[in-house]
Amino acid sequence: MFVSKNLDVNENGNLTIGGFDTVELAKKYGTPLYVMDEDMIRSHCRSFKESIDKFYGGNGLVCYASKVFSCKEIYRLVASEGLGVDVVSGGELYTAIAAGTDPKKICMHGNNKTIDELKMALEYGVGRIVADNIYEMKSIDKLCAETGKKADILLRIKPGVDAHTHNFIRTGQIDSKFGFALETGEAFEAVKFALECTNLNFVGIHCHIGSQILDTQGFEAAAEVMLVFIKKIRDELNAEVRDLNLGGGFGIQYTEADDPLPYEAFMEAVSLIVHKFCKENDMPLPFIIIEPGRSIAGPAGVTLYTVGGKKIIPNIRTYVSIDGGMCDNPRYILYQSEYDAVVANKASEPKNTVVTIAGKCCESGDLIGENMPLQECEPGDILAVCATGAYNYSMSSNYNRLLKPAVVFIKGGESRVVVRRETLEDIIRNDI
Ligand code: LLP
Repeated sequence: MFVSKNLDVNENGNLTIGGFDTVELAKKYGTPLYVMDEDMIRSHCRSFKESIDKFYGGNGLVCYASKVFSCKEIYRLVASEGLGVDVVSGGELYTAIAAGTDPKKICMHGNNKTIDELKMALEYGVGRIVADNIYEMKSIDKLCAETGKKADILLRIKPGVDAHTHNFIRTGQIDSKFGFALETGEAFEAVKFALECTNLNFVGIHCHIGSQILDTQGFEAAAEVMLVFIKKIRDELNAEVRDLNLGGGFGIQYTEADDPLPYEAFMEAVSLIVHKFCKENDMPLPFIIIEPGRSIAGPAGVTLYTVGGKKIIPNIRTYVSIDGGMCDNPRYILYQSEYDAVVANKASEPKNTVVTIAGKCCESGDLIGENMPLQECEPGDILAVCATGAYNYSMSSNYNRLLKPAVVFIKGGESRVVVRRETLEDIIRNDI
């Protein structure tokens, strides 16, 4: 009935998340409100970690891709589950360190890391820097020379496999701003260059083929391509590749149309390729890193709003306005992403209307979705948008000087604020 397993309806007909009444949560904390189910996040962390144990004998690391949802508490949470993290900016790195993340378990990404960000990464001693281009390698090498450090680096490779929701193609990937292309020989030259840099430890290669992927073929194809490259590096450069980082991208259910695989299915399919290739080519199994993001946090979240006005335009559409919108969830305006919505205080009623959910920004495209089936709703009702745990809070903005909502975690019958709601004072904090 609901897109996430942690959603249900209670005896009052209200939507619950992890057993919590969402209408009560809205009353207690106000709206808009992000609610995240801690138990579900933990169970997703475990499922990926157990897959590494099961399919690679524990020879690997799950790095939570923190761009999907970043605040101090999530870094603490994933660390307590034994995960590392992927960060892509000084801001994410700073937050991770402030939350006590072990720097050795941090993987630093970014296609244009600034010198200051690289300095930060080296000062904190992050375990892995994923180099995106030659210019960056030169900068890291120089910074290391100045400070007497040696950096463990991976190279970001474009494997020529571009996976989108339901398909994948193996050409045309030279045109991406991320990483080194294999087809042109650029990646091979980059490895040679890395091996020549005296202050760089070339430890591995990385790829990430896309996001919200609902089948295994793209991952299998990418793993194969990466393994062939590892073999080439061994055969032609006599260099060992310790780490194989296969990125993230595992899809989740947003609407009834999505039919995601259990996470273990992705892990198993890829591990079969890895084991077979290594055996056939007499290669040691690389240390496997994966970077799931959406699949860890996405299904664990809902966003609660209060319904304001309703605008019925005969024969055209009905707009239902809410007290949030593109500022807290810009995924519709950016990608026309679809969501499932529920009137939280009427969750047991049938969805017998079809509406457009409109945000409150001065922007016609500020919608949560169009043609969305929904229960009949009235001003004052609580609207829940499901599976918003990933790429919502982290992509929120203050456009129109709207305040960012609070984030509440629920667990074991308790709810607590992990990110406070912004105040008007916060909005003018940096204004001179
Ligand atoms: N690793 C790397 C290097 C990535 O670039 C990403 C996502 C991930 C891991 C995590 O991928 P996930 O498991 O979450 O699919 N804002 C877009 C998605 C952008 C994905 C960026 N990279 C959205 O809202 O759909």
